[in-house]
Amino acid sequence: MCGIVGYVGYRPAADFLLKGLRRLEYRGYDSAGLATLDDAGRLTIVKCAGRIDALAARLRQTPAPGRTGIGHTRWATHGPATDQNAHPHLGGNQQVAIVHNGVIDNYRHVRERLEMQGYRFVSATDSEAIAHAIAAQLEQAAEGVASGWAADAALENLPVELRPLAAAVRGALARLHGTYGLAILFREYPQVLMAARLGSPLVVGVARGEHFLASDANSLAGHADKIVYLADRELAVLTPDSLHVLHPERGLVARGPQQLTVTAEDVELGPYSHYMLKEIFEQPETLQNTMRGRLSREEASAHFGGLNLSPRQLRRVERFVLTGCGTSWHAALVGEYVIEELARIPVEVEYASELRYRNPPLHNNTLVFAITQSGETADTLAALREMKRQGHPTLAICNVVGSSIAQEADGGIYMHAGPEIGVASTKAFTSQCLALVMLGLYFGRLRHLSHAQGMRIIEHLLGLPDQVRRALETDVQVRQIAAKYQHCANFLYLGRQYNFPTALEGALKLKEISYVHAQGYPAAEMKHGPIALVDEQTPSVFLVPQGQVFDKVLANMEEIKARGGPVIAVTCEQGNRAADLADDVIVIPSVEDYLQPIVSVVPLQLLAYHIAVLRGCDVDKPRNLAKSVTVE
Ligand code: G6P
Repeated sequence: MCGIVGYVGYRPAADFLLKGLRRLEYRGYDSAGLATLDDAGRLTIVKCAGRIDALAARLRQTPAPGRTGIGHTRWATHGPATDQNAHPHLGGNQQVAIVHNGVIDNYRHVRERLEMQGYRFVSATDSEAIAHAIAAQLEQAAEGVASGWAADAALENLPVELRPLAAAVRGALARLHGTYGLAILFREYPQVLMAARLGSPLVVGVARGEHFLASDANSLAGHADKIVYLADRELAVLTPDSLHVLHPERGLVARGPQQLTVTAEDVELGPYSHYMLKEIFEQPETLQNTMRGRLSREEASAHFGGLNLSPRQLRRVERFVLTGCGTSWHAALVGEYVIEELARIPVEVEYASELRYRNPPLHNNTLVFAITQSGETADTLAALREMKRQGHPTLAICNVVGSSIAQEADGGIYMHAGPEIGVASTKAFTSQCLALVMLGLYFGRLRHLSHAQGMRIIEHLLGLPDQVRRALETDVQVRQIAAKYQHCANFLYLGRQYNFPTALEGALKLKEISYVHAQGYPAAEMKHGPIALVDEQTPSVFLVPQGQVFDKVLANMEEIKARGGPVIAVTCEQGNRAADLADDVIVIPSVEDYLQPIVSVVPLQLLAYHIAVLRGCDVDKPRNLAKSVTVE
């Protein structure tokens, strides 16, 4: 949830650190800081509560010289967002500086022990314990107390003078329980940067005479085009000219760099006022990218390169479990409808945070899909591990290449939606839904769908980007509707069947970015409670495109109108009767039922966006939220 950057090379470190932090700000934005080391071993720490802009202002007053450095943008877990709690944290006699992403579960115990040894803590964070623990290991080694790690054969791959540093880090980490992405500076070694990970991503950018470190490959775009992902329990030792990756059991890890595919343009705002708006408008292209190369007219089916299961194994699947959090959980609900309809395979959808502790009795031939944009959500990762431990094949539908979930799943489908930076997920949702439709087609074709049925679905899928492009044309009109209802304190979002998850997603978007209370509900179910909320100040957004439940939803609209509630109808060209009933109408193209969520969510994304802008909210960095939730 926090962002980490690091640099060791020949240029002023603070320049990259600040740029990198700006790119990572969407991951956490309540405080920020950096530490640099100059060649004489002078350490400069600049940190403060607030956004990166506040840090940049501080840096203008207190420059941070040096060609080695680490930086951090924080989403508070332990201790409020204050200057003191901002990272970096110092250890011992300021000989170690660290930035940390993750949570140290046993930090109280470690802290008490270190305090008894005389280490003085100045923050309320769990992270400070890491800095002191490393310093303590260094000091013990200096006094000749063996850490147990010094004899580790892997360390022999390092230059002699760096071995005690790596041994100290690993000795400290062995005493800490929890998760970490960690970047470390040693005051006496100004040309060394160390990184360690367990359950929190880190990637190294490799360039001539310099190395970069980041918790998210996007922040490296334009700086390094070769990257090395670190895996759990690995420790990386970086100098300007060398990179050593060590694993406690596997020793020296030989991992060649990969090409970074994200470009600086992908992560820049361009002509848009917010990333969320940019990402909403990218959807025709991102959907195209999700489909690219995966539809076969010859087989009248979809195919996926990375499922890593044979058609014979896939044919034996008798049940799906789809799991995820937030918007990804909504996509899973869409998947339940679509896979059951197209493939006739029973699907269970479970919040990852519940699944990880639920221990449900699962059939042998159950295929588990973790759905996640970031590939880093802690609960989704834990649910995936638990299902894997039980012996089920686990696959992922994931956007971020090389992310933890992508690495740990047995196989999966990359969404290819490009970097999603707006905290409120938009293009990831539509790509997830599309991947699930393609899965439905694939499994349907393994079973009962005819060639002709498969072909029809393919034709509909190929037309989808254009339908979404037309749905985006509602933007001006949606902005007017937003202006009319911007002051309302409560909204209902109502839909049935495929549009029930869309209603949940529309309500979530509004809550997330405009802080207006909104509730998504199955349209008919609202009679059993939410209808009590209806009054002249509570608009109901009805999803009423054509389809099998059109008349039923109209009846639900009548019920709201009869109680004086304003109705906004999202309907299609043929939906005149819905238009007649509603106070405001948004017309979207008509598509097959199973594609409706992908088209009808577009005006809901726009509605949330415009209401948030009109209310003066910080759309891309909504309060209290984070893009990637790497804590439980
Ligand atoms: C956070 C984000 C949501 C996202 C959810 C799951 O809460 O703010 O937008 O839907 O995490 O994230 P994932 O990366 O697993 O899809």
